[in-house]
Amino acid sequence: MTEDTTQTNTMALTPFALKDAPALIEAVFPAQKVSFEAQKERKANLGQTLTGLGSYWKGRKPLILVRAIVLGSLLPQTGDAEADLAIFEKLMAFDDEGLARRALVQGALKPKDIAARTELNNPWDYFSYTIKNSRFTAEQIESWCCPFDADKEGVTLRWRRDIEERDKLVLYRKALATFASYEEKAALCKRPEEVDQDWLYAPVWPAVNRHYAHLGIEAHSFPELIEQLGILRYGHRPRVGDTFCGGGSIPFESARIGCDVYASDLNPIACMLTWGALNIIGASPERRAEIEQAQREVAEAVDKEITALGIEHDEHGNRAKAYLYCLETRCPETGWMVPMSPSWVISKSRNVIAKLIPDQENERFNIEVVSGVSKEEMQAAEKGTVQDGALVYELDGKVYRTPIKTLRGDYRLPDGTTGNRLRRWEKHDFKPRPDDIFRERLYAIQWIKKETLDKSRQETFFASVTEADLERERKVEQIVADNLTRWQEEGLLPDMEIEPGYNTDQPIRERGWTYWHHLFNARQLLLFSRYFQYSTPEDYVFNAKSLDWNARIANWMNHWEKTNNVFYNQALNTFYNYGIRCFVSHEAGRSFGFANSPLPKVAKYISCHDATALEASSDLWVTDPPYADAVHYHEITEFFIAWLRKHPPKPFDEWTWDSRRALAIKGSGDDFRRGMVDAYRAMAEHMPDNGMQCVMFTHQDTGVWSDMVGIFWAAGLQVVAAWYIATETTSELKKGGYVQGTVILMLRKRPAGERAGFKQRILPAVRAEVKRQIETMMHLNDEVKDKHGEPVFNDSDLQMAGYAAALKVLTAYTTIGGEDVTRFALRPRAKGEVTVVDEIVQQAAEAANSLLVPEGLGAETWARLSGIQRFYLRMMDMETTGASKLDNYQNFAKAFRVQDYARVMADMKANAARLKRVTEFTSRDLTDSTEIGPTWLGHLIIGLQQVLAEVEPQAVIQQLQQNLPDFMEVRPLLIDMLSFMERKAPETTVREAAEVLGARLKNLRALGQ
Ligand SMILES: C[S@@+](CC[C@H](N)C(=O)[O-])C[C@H]1O[C@@H](n2cnc3c(N)ncnc32)[C@H](O)[C@@H]1O
Repeated sequence: MTEDTTQTNTMALTPFALKDAPALIEAVFPAQKVSFEAQKERKANLGQTLTGLGSYWKGRKPLILVRAIVLGSLLPQTGDAEADLAIFEKLMAFDDEGLARRALVQGALKPKDIAARTELNNPWDYFSYTIKNSRFTAEQIESWCCPFDADKEGVTLRWRRDIEERDKLVLYRKALATFASYEEKAALCKRPEEVDQDWLYAPVWPAVNRHYAHLGIEAHSFPELIEQLGILRYGHRPRVGDTFCGGGSIPFESARIGCDVYASDLNPIACMLTWGALNIIGASPERRAEIEQAQREVAEAVDKEITALGIEHDEHGNRAKAYLYCLETRCPETGWMVPMSPSWVISKSRNVIAKLIPDQENERFNIEVVSGVSKEEMQAAEKGTVQDGALVYELDGKVYRTPIKTLRGDYRLPDGTTGNRLRRWEKHDFKPRPDDIFRERLYAIQWIKKETLDKSRQETFFASVTEADLERERKVEQIVADNLTRWQEEGLLPDMEIEPGYNTDQPIRERGWTYWHHLFNARQLLLFSRYFQYSTPEDYVFNAKSLDWNARIANWMNHWEKTNNVFYNQALNTFYNYGIRCFVSHEAGRSFGFANSPLPKVAKYISCHDATALEASSDLWVTDPPYADAVHYHEITEFFIAWLRKHPPKPFDEWTWDSRRALAIKGSGDDFRRGMVDAYRAMAEHMPDNGMQCVMFTHQDTGVWSDMVGIFWAAGLQVVAAWYIATETTSELKKGGYVQGTVILMLRKRPAGERAGFKQRILPAVRAEVKRQIETMMHLNDEVKDKHGEPVFNDSDLQMAGYAAALKVLTAYTTIGGEDVTRFALRPRAKGEVTVVDEIVQQAAEAANSLLVPEGLGAETWARLSGIQRFYLRMMDMETTGASKLDNYQNFAKAFRVQDYARVMADMKANAARLKRVTEFTSRDLTDSTEIGPTWLGHLIIGLQQVLAEVEPQAVIQQLQQNLPDFMEVRPLLIDMLSFMERKAPETTVREAAEVLGARLKNLRALGQ
């Protein structure tokens, strides 16, 4: 770390001038905007900057989120929160100018879009037109002002040729201002990282320099700004550390904006990916060219070898792109050999299927590949011979069905687990033996036509397997059989056993595979053995990536005509049919098209060790620990380690090429908490007194909060802020709402010395701090809303800030009720135990909720409502702003302690959630056994439904009177709720009904009844 990489002349700065200045992120953070941008980045899938190195490492954090955290932690508060936030948003390119530039680069708005939504007196200074079929003359048109609908008026608009970018930006700014929300604007934009940074930020630096002029800041790029902020705070360029670095998002983005970085992980594959992020994605353009050239040379050499072997070309010169294999088994009923596949569709787009044709003589099926079949035939082929866990096929008009379990010979073991009679493969095996239960069969080949082999658009076709193809298969198998042991010894192929485990049990149980190379077939082993002759660090990264895309457990996707990757999810699923990639398609997915985003000259340090074994200090630790992680990183990684462990090149040779399962932090039990406390204590000890930590974790329930807080507390840290980032996604695999939010917890070292706390004394302090925090934020909200139309924080942010405020009070103590915090954190938890942290978090939620009265409802009414009623009314209010994210509902349901919020939801899609409307409640939803049924609101919903069904309002009131024993006393409250619904209900009819019923209730008082 001695490299002199100074970015700027830093003479004007006073080192440590900001030593104790609170960071911006402790007061403000545009969590909604960051959430939107983070989701936008996620949705880019393979277009994300680091995924070019492989998408097998799960849980990479969005880079934009990392950028926001690091920047927010280094920027100081200046006493003007609104101005600080404005500068922060400029630096994130979230401000109006940033959005305009991002939208312009995207080309999001065409002249006609701008003309339709902008007021402009002089459109022809910007646009030229051609008349399509207009009733107007050129003269008339030239007198027009915007807005107008060009299509309707029959003219085509174009940008004028002589107009400059500056002018276009003026119009983009104007047009974007007509969109109501940040989301609508940002949806039209490129992501900030996709835009040329010098151009995007050109207007930002003067504003930044003005805002921080009193500190001597003079920056014209991120690295300059970051270095200067570091000097002001820490006396040097800031160093960001991450001891759970995984796929490397945190160190990569920190380095990209100009921090020195320290990255470590227990896992060498994670370290390798982080290395790749910093050295391949972050390479200089010259280095990138070298890497590409070297990879081209590897590809050419492998191609030459494969071609010389003559195993991928047919006798006409066509070249194979993919081979499709299926399992085959003997039917116990008929004795026939039956090919197994859940579908016999090979290509959905070209209607290609495999047909099973009985061969009576040999008691087996011939497989014929047919292209361009009818819709009906496609439908028939969709149903394969493996259906609902059974082998199913038809022979001579009779359907035979045998459960797979029976085929495998499943039986119960004494310990309650299941064993089976599949033969366990041996080290020298690479294909099933003739007497195995599951055999394997090549059933189709995708060929690239000879004439198009050198073209950029290759034409392919699918064909049945011929005798010559089988001959080539035998040749491949012979080569592998002859060389397997040697290649294993040389480290070209793996020879590592599969250690049983949560994920790794699956291939053992379902196929009898016991060594990692069993997950690859002969062709794949041969191809990989050729690639693994090359072993620069870059070769390692790219070869590892291609293992993910070319394995026996890579599913054939008949809509893509390609194999999927193994780690499309986190399991090691086996498939009845699979595809393999031959050289051409293997190479296409291996190294090309990786993003390039050169890093500035900063110091980068990567090390492979347990989080407690820290080797250096950092000013800022930003981590994303493996909390209660569904991902078994240590097991996933063995799939790769098996291949890479023997002869790692420099600098990978310094790492431990083992998954070190025993050390991996996993689960959420007592061991997990101990591991985490040790890790965070080590980080706290390797951090200056004015350093900060940011920990990201998934928000699941309040139990998570108390675990996490206990951990950090015990590690000597104090909570200083918390933000909530929605990172939800809806995916086909997880039908319905799959909600995932990330909590960003900011921590500082707890000041030295003992502070004893007692619950009774802490609780009032917690309530006061929550109130103070929320009121400060609401005040800022009002100011920003007045100026920009949109508030900074929504209710979730305020609530999260409420939690943080409570935890700030709590974590300032060193003992609680006489118990030392470390002991408290490490004490095994009894099931269902409510800890003091749980209580305080709940208090905070309640304190926050009582402050967050929905607009239009009286505070007294709010104070008396139960959780489910608060939930319904609060969400009803939120829906009027167009909010529809499921995690909002989920969070509030938790905060209001609603047991089953699904009961009052009409839709639970991640991004299109909504409450049941008054008219959508069924009588079953409103019985006394439901949560909402017996409440005042429940009764009002029934009353409104009756009014809508034309029951006399008087009769409805009478019924309410009968059903609510305290009717007279709660009448004002019912009136208040009805008047709220009169304003907020989405349907006019319900609003009217609420008005009618409310008026009747009021009248009751007037009449003195
Ligand atoms: C949630 S992931 C981090 C993902 C990363 N932030 C990213 O953006 O890609 C957690 C990481 O913790 C690592 N890990 C688990 N136990 C560890 C330990 N005891 N010491 C260090 N790292 C560990 C895992 O290997 C995994 O890479």
